[in-house]
Amino acid sequence: MISIASQTVSGSKIERRLALGTVSALAVVALLAFAATSAQAEGAAPDAAALWAKNCASCHGKDGKGSKAGEKMGVQDLTAAAVKAGLTAAKVSDSMTKGVKAKEGDKLVMKPYTEKLSAAEIQALTDYTLSLK
Ligand code: HEC
Repeated sequence: MISIASQTVSGSKIERRLALGTVSALAVVALLAFAATSAQAEGAAPDAAALWAKNCASCHGKDGKGSKAGEKMGVQDLTAAAVKAGLTAAKVSDSMTKGVKAKEGDKLVMKPYTEKLSAAEIQALTDYTLSLK
């Protein structure tokens, strides 16, 4: 009888430990999720210039006017009034989600960025592109 009773006691101790373990594991998960979200929120807005420099400047130039390599590919000056007039947020965002096709034919002259950029980054770059002057 005594041994059964002590087994029950130690059993409930284990249960309590398990419950505590679950609570602290949940707290860690919640903390990590919070940290990830705030890191993303912090990164999204100020990142646009850095994202542009890293992903777009090689063809479009640091300032959007077009690099040497880009000019050879026929990139337009994204800061020119006539070009800006034809750009909408949807068009700019599409350039990154779908890529840009050559004027003639189906060849992609600019490849899509959906594997490199998150939706939030594409949004930030869309605003950035439209703000180039
Ligand atoms: C490998 C070269 C290259 C890179 C890198 C590149 N583009 Fe392009 N992009 C082009 C070419 C070529 C065109 C087609 C000619 C044009 O419209 O200027 C184009 C067109 C565009 C257009 C005009 C789309 C339209 O419908 O008129 C936008 C906006 C644009 N790119 C934005 C970006 C952004 C933002 C990035 C970075 C995420 C980027 N590009 C990276 C080559 C590039």
